[in-house]
Amino acid sequence: MTLPDFSPIDALDDTILSKLKARLVAVGLTAGAIEPILGAARGVHPLLRRPVLHHHLRSIAEPYAYAARALMFGDPIEQAELRQTFGELLAPLVASGLLREVGAGFVSPFTMSVVDGLFCIADLLEHAGEAVMGLGPLTIPLCAAVKPAGALGKALDLGCGAGVVALLLARRTVSVVATDINPRAVAMTRFNARFNGVSNVEVRLGSLFEPVARDRFDLVASQPPFIPQSDDARSGDFMSGGKLGDELVLSLLDALPDHLVPGGRAVIVAEWGHGPRHAAPGERLKKQLPNVPADVMLFEYSPVSLAVHAAEYSAALHPTLGEAYELEALRRLKHGLTMGIDELVPSLVVVRRVDDRRPRFEVLRGNAISTANSRRLDAMLLAREAVRSLDSLLDSIVCLPEGATSFDLGSSVRLELPPQEMLGPIEVTGDLMALYARFGQPATVRAAIDRHLAAGASGESPQSLAKQVASALLNGHLEVQPRTLIIAPG
Ligand SMILES: C[S@@+](CC[C@H](N)C(=O)[O-])C[C@H]1O[C@@H](n2cnc3c(N)ncnc32)[C@H](O)[C@@H]1O
Repeated sequence: MTLPDFSPIDALDDTILSKLKARLVAVGLTAGAIEPILGAARGVHPLLRRPVLHHHLRSIAEPYAYAARALMFGDPIEQAELRQTFGELLAPLVASGLLREVGAGFVSPFTMSVVDGLFCIADLLEHAGEAVMGLGPLTIPLCAAVKPAGALGKALDLGCGAGVVALLLARRTVSVVATDINPRAVAMTRFNARFNGVSNVEVRLGSLFEPVARDRFDLVASQPPFIPQSDDARSGDFMSGGKLGDELVLSLLDALPDHLVPGGRAVIVAEWGHGPRHAAPGERLKKQLPNVPADVMLFEYSPVSLAVHAAEYSAALHPTLGEAYELEALRRLKHGLTMGIDELVPSLVVVRRVDDRRPRFEVLRGNAISTANSRRLDAMLLAREAVRSLDSLLDSIVCLPEGATSFDLGSSVRLELPPQEMLGPIEVTGDLMALYARFGQPATVRAAIDRHLAAGASGESPQSLAKQVASALLNGHLEVQPRTLIIAPG
């Protein structure tokens, strides 16, 4: 299957594109309208959803459903539905190839995603090769993790694909640079920026940090390719992370701190091939980044077996399954086994540049990757500032995160954050839990420890209690309260 020509679509002028966007908005094609359609296929594996989605969409005789069928879900619509949906835009859309005649209907040879009011055109991944990835399953967790509170200056989306992350970041930043090694991805991101009327995204072609060699950013987001790939694999630019799969990610992380301003932050989605022959992802990462001037938090999630990995990626490349799927899956299994991979560990790597203290490196066990969120990351990075010295720890005001619950296990206490939070439960001592209770009213760590010891509630030393507080802050089960700003009257 050959990739459809993107140049005639790219040549559509701004007037047509803004009319198309306005039209899609006017017919009500929003993420909210799509939600119940996706809901109808909840529980069905994403690679098997097509017939369920088509069935559900065909029961809705409204232009937004026609648009979704033709542009998003690969289900051809008829002339009358087309005219009702696209009106006078139909001719240029067909002439450019964004809509194509297939049998008795018309459908796009591309795919479109709708996210947060943005429309993004991308390729169908089964084309492999230079196909450009749009909204993937990990794109949304990445976006959720890269929205720190407050406005930001300059951001980088490295390996932008069709530009979804860059376009979302553009709303929170003064400017975004989006880069990709694939010229087609560069063209699509530029197109999607134009389509959505976004003017503060600059798109550059090149590998890793080459196109931004002299730039430094407040924020870097990236989901580089991380799939283990044999030399003879039929892959795509969006997939191949090297033979073990982590080669590209490690090179990216190595160079990353030099491209962050002091205090700047990066969030990287990565997956790590793992097995008895290989060191744990945290050790590999630490070895690669021995002296970087940056805090590193590696959030690890439940591993996926090599069998599931091989079957799912092969099905994504060959959605009609059959012999091609089988050959692909066998090749991926064989390559994984040759490389000593039993399982793949999904992760989020959060890096924050620090120049004024010793950086910290931590491996944390995350809840599901879908729970990644910037609020928790903001809190965890703030905690790292609080524990920079004993004095700053003792002077900090700390509290339990909202919704945290505790369960008495007898000799210890299990502390759980709400299920939508990005961290799993931890076990703490009953003593520390009693100390937590003293953080109920705003008090510094120093005052809480003093009160706790004065009440004769602990046999521990103040230093030992402070150490336990520091560790709970670092693993996200306590939070630092930002200081209240007191403004003196006139
Ligand atoms: C997995 S896709 C991610 C797409 C999108 N950013 C997202 O998160 O949904 C990885 C992207 O990285 C690009 N890429 C691969 N190797 C690269 C390199 N050496 N330098 C820059 N980009 C690269 C691919 O072309 C692809 O668009």
